[in-house]
Amino acid sequence: MQLIDGKKISLQLQEEIAIEVKKIMASGIKQPHLAAILVGNDGGSETYVASKIKACENVGFKSTLIRFPDNVSEEDLLKAVNDLNNNDDIDGFIVQLPLPRHINEHKIIEAIKPSKDVDGFHPINVGRMVLNLPCYVSATPYGIVHLLEKYKIETTGKHCVVIGRSHIVGSPMSILLAKNTELGNCTVTLCHSKTKDLISHTLKADIIICALGIPEFLKGNMVKDGVVVIDVGTTRVVSTETKSGFKLKGDVMFNEVAPKCSFITPVPGGVGPMTIASLLKNTLLAAKKEIYK
Ligand code: GUN
Repeated sequence: MQLIDGKKISLQLQEEIAIEVKKIMASGIKQPHLAAILVGNDGGSETYVASKIKACENVGFKSTLIRFPDNVSEEDLLKAVNDLNNNDDIDGFIVQLPLPRHINEHKIIEAIKPSKDVDGFHPINVGRMVLNLPCYVSATPYGIVHLLEKYKIETTGKHCVVIGRSHIVGSPMSILLAKNTELGNCTVTLCHSKTKDLISHTLKADIIICALGIPEFLKGNMVKDGVVVIDVGTTRVVSTETKSGFKLKGDVMFNEVAPKCSFITPVPGGVGPMTIASLLKNTLLAAKKEIYK
């Protein structure tokens, strides 16, 4: 069994991005600038956004954090999105999800200018991804593809089971891996809460992407020997073992599953750091105007 070290690969990617930032600034392009909108005080979102801001510093990007209280109106949030759309100093920005229930998430995402949508969540970017056109690929699936590439994990002809059909992970992941590209060409089965006899699918999988958000859902008896397991779960659970009082738990029962795997990602230190590296990569593409000229 080989552990996939997402933290190490993410830091390597960040070093490459930092070198590129110096190069483009020397050529006269302005310092890349990422903004993040954070609504409310959800502990998980606070942690993720703080990591994104810190990563900006690591690679030499400028960053701006815009905070709103939980009770912000949809109108005020749309105005903030519009201001960022029209601010020439901002290359790309994200609205951290989830948003409070009174805000229509789709409406906010659709208000983001596709050329600044470095999360790759706007329908234009999702549609372009499906059609193999230049676009921002959403950060977590992009990070996972990168991990498969770095660890030279063969995908062609493999049977991949994606568990979870969220707009930001499961759904785009299933599309990317089924594409006629080097890191695709899988036969993909997309499983979800209504899938019958899930174990009959997971037992046949060469690669499993587990992205349903239920801690330790995937058990040892659900996978075959030699499987590649990518754990996207990051549920925060109360813990007495950490200073913060919380611990991240993946969707995979690691102790049972890992001994059967050829490769597996840990939580933390697997997919999470790659999401951040992908966001930085998309922001660099935005600063260089490589996707939308
Ligand atoms: N919430 C969980 N993951 C993400 C992400 O990748 N981007 C944003 N904007 N919100 C998230």
